[in-house]
Amino acid sequence: MPFYKSIQINETTNAHFWEITEDVTSLFRAVSLKDTSLFRLESMKSEAHQCGFLAVRMLLQHLGYTDFDLSYDEVGKPHLIDGKHISISHSHEFSAICISDVIIGIDLEKLKEKTLKIAPRFMDVNHLEGLEVSEQIEKATVIWGVKESIFKIKNEKGISFPEHISERTFDLKDGICTAELRFNNQLETFSIQFYPVEAYIFVCAIPN
Ligand SMILES: CC(C)(COP(=O)(O)OP(=O)(O)OC[C@H]1O[C@@H](n2cnc3c(N)ncnc32)[C@H](O)[C@@H]1OP(=O)(O)O)[C@@H](O)C(=O)NCCC(=O)NCCS
Repeated sequence: MPFYKSIQINETTNAHFWEITEDVTSLFRAVSLKDTSLFRLESMKSEAHQCGFLAVRMLLQHLGYTDFDLSYDEVGKPHLIDGKHISISHSHEFSAICISDVIIGIDLEKLKEKTLKIAPRFMDVNHLEGLEVSEQIEKATVIWGVKESIFKIKNEKGISFPEHISERTFDLKDGICTAELRFNNQLETFSIQFYPVEAYIFVCAIPN
């Protein structure tokens, strides 16, 4: 049962991680699924995707919930039956969920060179100046995670990562930053916490 760890984000917000070492059959046998989830699982093309999906259900069970307590709205955003807020992310060998009394968005992203290569498409690369390549990869991954996390909070049609979401200057060692969404003539700010988790970056955004 490789429950990996929890991170307390604030008094009412906790993130939980599952390291996927099981095969899809073992995970499937260990969870109870409602019919809609069974259909979704069957429609997934890759076993890695199925494992990530099932590992989220393992985390729910670890916390005293089941798949029956989780539903999705029309845009694919997950909701818990007890009114608490939930955000979900999976990446390769890890699945993560974050549960909170307040709205949150999370993203878990594997560190890889490709993120740096595509950085000009989603961020202001001046923010990477003066860093070693490994730090540039890390920072670009954090910024990607910031944008995904804010998108998961807002998920409004028309939000563009490079145009509408920007991070204020921050240092990697701080583990926190502030980000802004400027969209539809409105400015919203978000408090961001980010953590390295093995070869991944975990980001959690909370609206201010
Ligand atoms: C929806 C989206 C945020 C998912 O992110 P991802 O990195 O592909 O995948 P993750 O594993 O981190 O997250 C997937 C989970 O997000 C959640 N999710 C999906 N749609 C969501 C939405 N609209 N709002 C909030 N959460 C959502 C789901 O729980 C999903 O997992 P599950 O279906 O297995 O429960 C992403 O696909 C997306 O659309 N991003 C915006 C794309 C974009 O604008 N890119 C611009 C690049 S310049």
